[in-house]
Amino acid sequence: MSKSFYIETFGCQMNAHDSEKVVGTLESQGYVQTQVEDEAGLILYNTCSIRDKAEQKVFHRLNEYKRLQGEGKKFAVIGCVAQQEGERIFDKAPYVSIVAGSASYRNLPAMLARLERGDSRITGLDDKQTTETFETPFVARTNQHRGYITIIEGCDKFCAYCVVPYTRGNERSRSAASVLEEARRMADAGYTEIQLLGQNVNSYRDPSRQKTFAELLHAVATLPGIRRVRFTTSHPRDFTRDIVDVIDATPSLCDHVHLPVQSGSSDVLRKMDREYTRDWYLERIAWIKSAQRDISITSDIIVGFPGETDADLEQTATLLDEVGYDAIFAFKYSPRPNTPAISMADSLSDEVKSARLKVLLDRQREIQRVNYDRHRDQVMELMIESHNTQRNQVVGRSTQNKTVNFTTSQPILPAIGSYQTVRITQAFPNSLLGEAVL
Ligand code: SAH
Ligand code: SF4
Ligand code: F3S
Repeated sequence: MSKSFYIETFGCQMNAHDSEKVVGTLESQGYVQTQVEDEAGLILYNTCSIRDKAEQKVFHRLNEYKRLQGEGKKFAVIGCVAQQEGERIFDKAPYVSIVAGSASYRNLPAMLARLERGDSRITGLDDKQTTETFETPFVARTNQHRGYITIIEGCDKFCAYCVVPYTRGNERSRSAASVLEEARRMADAGYTEIQLLGQNVNSYRDPSRQKTFAELLHAVATLPGIRRVRFTTSHPRDFTRDIVDVIDATPSLCDHVHLPVQSGSSDVLRKMDREYTRDWYLERIAWIKSAQRDISITSDIIVGFPGETDADLEQTATLLDEVGYDAIFAFKYSPRPNTPAISMADSLSDEVKSARLKVLLDRQREIQRVNYDRHRDQVMELMIESHNTQRNQVVGRSTQNKTVNFTTSQPILPAIGSYQTVRITQAFPNSLLGEAVL
């Protein structure tokens, strides 16, 4: 078997970062990454099972590429579908050799050794309920300027619709000291932006009881060399006022909170087992809005949860207006295996769910039109992400996580990862246009 591998990643930022750990681990075992599936000896899919569509993607991919099995290529299915489906994957796709959930990546070297010996049906599924976090000794980060650190794994909240507690196991945090050590190493290596990750990042509980989540934010954000710190995803249940205070007090903490509400109806929230009401959520929003900084707020929404009425949907629509989000990620409810909601009648048709989704997205677009327009004539600092040579523009990101395309009269374009001040000249519902301030 050739020691080249190809990896494709689906799902959330945690999965994206897990793949960086998997790549680092494979490289430490002498494997070399290729961007071409046909050239790889080992093909890995790091999978997501949050909605049915996401899960189906991996089986489509496997079907597309199973012809390569004849050439001696091996397949590994890792991540959330692997943990959820377990050995059933071998029955569905017998050419798969490894099935491993995220809590077992530290055992990958042993799994690879078995693969090289010719074993098949190798699993890493048993340690889902571990108390350990799963940082690996090797991480191959794909971006040299902005990097992820997972500070808390898993989820104990068990919302009625969600697979994550079953695919990622129970909640467990890394010690503040180990997070800070990794952040310091990244700063030394030239990283200026750090994104702290967790399914519920603000449910962080330092096992060594040294720091609260807000104190950890402050400590990472004040490391020499670190100019920006983001954190995602925050859960309303654990959103405390000191998070707003620490953003106000720490310039390098970004002006952005992603605080998914899921629904604006307290009835639906109760059925979802979210453990908060509309008013309770709006109180947290009021804290964020009372900050001195202009903190951007974004959210996730599920439409068409079992029993959702038109009146419930209207409650979500009015909540969008009330909060004035800068972005929402809205999804049609998808019934998922193992979850409590699977036994509730999924009574709304796909047409109804699509129509409701459209109502919300149309409403949100108008909100963003107004929100983004407020930035006209403002001067802001961007981190440069890419160059759009066709349009002769540079693409950067603001502290509020907004995309800004801008022009510059400088003969040499600002480098990727550098910072540039721009003045905003035009606003669209999803991006801004500007010119460099030289
Ligand atoms: N821990 C975060 C969310 C993580 S999952 C939180 O609680 O806010 C990311 C998003 O996927 C969720 O916010 C939700 O909007 C969506 N999602 C999760 N399960 C879903 C399902 N069964 N159907 C549709 N969307 C779902
Ligand atoms: Fe899923 Fe709820 Fe946990 Fe978020 S808090 S990951 S939606 S179970
Ligand atoms: Fe998907 Fe697993 Fe993330 S289900 S959203 S990859 S935690």
